[in-house]
Amino acid sequence: MNNSIKDLSGIEPFEKKIYLSSPTMHGEELEYVKEAFDTNWLSTVGMNINEAERIAAQYTGCGYAVALSCGTAALHMATRLAGERLYGQAPPNKGALQGKKVFCSDVTFDASVNPVAYEDGEAVFIDTEYDTWNMDPAALEKAFSIYPEVKLVGNAKTFTMMKQFFTFDVDQHSLVVKEGETLQTGRHTFSFAMIPMVHWPECMVTYDAADKILFSADAFGTFGALSGNIFADEVDFEKEWLGEARRYLVNIVGKYGTQILAALKKAAALDIQMICPLHGPIWRENLGWLIDKYQTWANYQPEDHAVLILYASIYGNTESAVNALAGKLADAGERKIAMYDVSVTDPSYLLSEVFCCDRIVFACPTYNAGIFPKMETLLSELAAHNFQKRKLAILENGTWAISSGKLMREILSGLKGMEIMESTLTVKSSLKEEQLTALDEIVSFLRQ
Ligand SMILES: Cc1cc2nc3c(=O)[nH]c(=O)nc-3n(C[C@H](O)[C@H](O)[C@H](O)COP(=O)(O)O)c2cc1C
Repeated sequence: MNNSIKDLSGIEPFEKKIYLSSPTMHGEELEYVKEAFDTNWLSTVGMNINEAERIAAQYTGCGYAVALSCGTAALHMATRLAGERLYGQAPPNKGALQGKKVFCSDVTFDASVNPVAYEDGEAVFIDTEYDTWNMDPAALEKAFSIYPEVKLVGNAKTFTMMKQFFTFDVDQHSLVVKEGETLQTGRHTFSFAMIPMVHWPECMVTYDAADKILFSADAFGTFGALSGNIFADEVDFEKEWLGEARRYLVNIVGKYGTQILAALKKAAALDIQMICPLHGPIWRENLGWLIDKYQTWANYQPEDHAVLILYASIYGNTESAVNALAGKLADAGERKIAMYDVSVTDPSYLLSEVFCCDRIVFACPTYNAGIFPKMETLLSELAAHNFQKRKLAILENGTWAISSGKLMREILSGLKGMEIMESTLTVKSSLKEEQLTALDEIVSFLRQ
């Protein structure tokens, strides 16, 4: 807070003002006003309003839409509805938020907070964090100390952890729930299920039986920020998000395939219409497709029939050798081939690719009697993520005492369900003409 004030001192007012919502006229407005006069529909109903409501309902996919006189009125109505849904219908002449405190962000517009007052609630402003423009966790912590009646719902482990992160009196605010228990708030009945290690030990999901929504914590989440559209069916998920969903799952929870499958089993017992993960788009259509992907990743099954070539190269000779291999794979009819220099791509992306492809070639020079460090890091990541069930070939390189192939094989053969080509292709400094047949052998092994 103090820092924020200090930092704002260098900010100058804009020379040109940017108006929040200045009226825009398109030329037909007067005609419509005149038409309303002429037809005597100077009212809250009329053909044009009906049509606006019909278009809005169609566009948003809702059953009905209601046109209101202004945005403030719409916010008021939304606040009233939220209050009634949470606390039930208010008595006559009383607001739906009577006696309730509503924590509000202070980076807002008065129209979005006034409805709290119209509905007899009390807005409590939480300072904004300078960097993220979200509620400041420190200010939120202070708000909890000022308003002891505010409750946080969690399992016992959540609160043990919360005490490690925060200094406020956590116990005073905690409402402890267990798996199988329910919590009623107005029309909603929430039930809870533990999904340990997906991806922390205290992880729990919440199911709202009223709207059939699964609040799935980290499960079904992705890396990346939303850019406007919030539902998975509003974006090209497969093109724009699937890679990041896989990279998230594989890197963060990939090691815990068994626990993910246990969580999916619990979810299968529920009638789910919507999945709200902690991050990434919300799912309300095609849930089976997403769940299938999770099954595949958690079972360490490849998603694609594709060859992945992962190589390291100091002087470029290993790279030339795998380029020749890629060409031969293509000549043999292989259409999905991906090549990565492990020195230039972040291991999190490589791990995601590895989980995707069914066949992988590891190619690496010897480095101080060991594996080139970037490749060694990747291999230890694979072992740490419990990676399994693929077809593998190994290519090694070196100039005086070649050992990278043997060392890579030791790590890879320690992983479950790997089918590793028996012979390692050894390149002495550079690939020779007579070794081209060895490349053919790798191609036929991978294509068998
Ligand atoms: C720092 C360093 C350490 C190396 N250590 C070994 C080694 O222990 N044994 C070996 O046979 N070659 C070693 N080499 C040589 C490379 O493995 C060899 O020249 C190889 O052909 C390089 O392949 P590239 O052309 O794909 O980079 C080392 C090279 C460097 C730069």
